[in-house]
Order: sequence, then C-alpha cells, then structure tokens
Amino acid sequence: MALQIDKLVQSADVFIKAEDLQKVKDFSVTYQMYSAAIKEIRTKLEILDDEFKIKFDYNPIHNIESRLKAPASIVEKLNKKGFDVSVQSIRDNIFDVAGIRVICNYIEDIYKVADLLTNQDDITLIRTKDYIKNPKENGYRSLHLIVSVPIFLAESTEHIKAEVQLRTIAMDYWASLEHELRYKTTGNVNDDLKKRLTACATLLADMDVEMQDIFKIIYKQN
Ligand code: GTP
Ligand code: MG
Repeated sequence: MALQIDKLVQSADVFIKAEDLQKVKDFSVTYQMYSAAIKEIRTKLEILDDEFKIKFDYNPIHNIESRLKAPASIVEKLNKKGFDVSVQSIRDNIFDVAGIRVICNYIEDIYKVADLLTNQDDITLIRTKDYIKNPKENGYRSLHLIVSVPIFLAESTEHIKAEVQLRTIAMDYWASLEHELRYKTTGNVNDDLKKRLTACATLLADMDVEMQDIFKIIYKQN
C-alpha cells in the first residue's frame, strides 16, 4: 500500500516535537524558494544567450552550472560565522544557498552578461566582487554577484538572494583544478607549489586576453 504523507507526518509526530516539525516544514518551503531562484536566473541567462545567437550569430555563454547548498553545509556555515540556525537567519546571512556559475567564452562576455542580467527590472544587485580586476593573491579570477530575485508564490512574493559566479573557460579550468588539489591534500601544498599554481593562473589570464583579441579580429572580418 502506498505511503500517505499525512500518515507519515502523524507517525513522525510521535518522535518529533510539533514545533520541530514546523521548523522542518518551514525549511523545506524556503529551500524550495532557492531552487526556484536558480530556475529563474538560469532561464534569464539562457534567454540572453539565445538572443545573442540570433542577433549576432554568436553565444557569449559556454555553459551554466548550478547547485543548491546542502542543508548540512548551510548549518555548518551558520555555526562557523556565529549566526543562529533558523530560516530567517539563512535568508539574512547566507547568500550562496542558490549558486549559479556562468562559464563564458571571453572576458568581455562576462561583463556583458553581468550587465544585461543585473539591468533587468526584477533583479536587484546586492553586491559585486570583481576578482578579475582584482585577482585573489593565489591567482583566483571570477566575477561574483549577489543578486536578489522575486519568487511569485501562491500567497506572497519572496525576494531570494543568489550567488552568480561568472568566469571564462580558462578561469574555470584553473579554479576547478585548484579547488580539487586544495581539498584533496588538506593543506599539503607547499609554498613552491602555491607559487607554481599562481603562475599558471597568470599564464591563463594572458591567454584569455590573447584569445579575446584574436576573436575580435576574426569577428570583425566576417
Ligand atoms: P564564503 O562563501 O563564506 O567563502 O564567503 P564569500 O561569499 O564572501 O566568498 P567569495 O565571494 O570570495 O567566494 C566564494 C566562492 O568563490 C567559493 O565558494 C568558491 O566557489 C569561489 N572561490 C573563492 N576563492 C576561491 C579560490 O581561491 N579558489 C577556488 N577554486 N575557488 C574560489
Ligand atoms: Mg560561498
């Protein structure tokens, strides 16, 4: 016989206090809103990319990745930063529950896509961190935006924050490998290796500039 959700909730009630059950329900509703925010932003980006393809016969976006932060990681981050663990606290303090990564072909595409997205009427730009103009000491490059997007629900409109990271293929290549190396070795990267990794980031940044230039020359000829 199929399980019925209300029976499940009733039986869970035996083990979980009613107020805790309400917290679980509230969290599920909020988590679903972050999932909706990802869908909305992804769709906006896909529409922009499609428009470019039709108008200019060219796609600025190479691909889009997205992820919802795992509930355990949300709680861990709240604890680490000294915030209380509640739905309101998540909404006020954790801006990367909904994460969208936009991999662009060329550096200028990053700024074009970021401007076109943040200029849309229903998107509010909360914060920008430009690690392309100001790379991190280790060489990390990307443009980070925190945006707020309205989610239209049955009984209310909720403004949900999301983190959008924009980077080129080369920046993504470096960040992905560096992330993996750092997490796999948990601190075993000595100064010489760190320097070599930073040098790789510089080489890739130079390549990005060169590829952008080549693209512009070829694109103008056609
Ligand atoms: P946290 O989210 O708590 O880290 O703080 P924040 O939101 O202020 O951080 P920031 O915007 O600087 O960067 C957050 C995200 O950018 C990380 O979750 C990574 O995805 C990415 N990132 C930042 N620095 C690095 C780096 O040095 N290497 C790699 N591979 N990724 C990085
Ligand atoms: Mg983060």
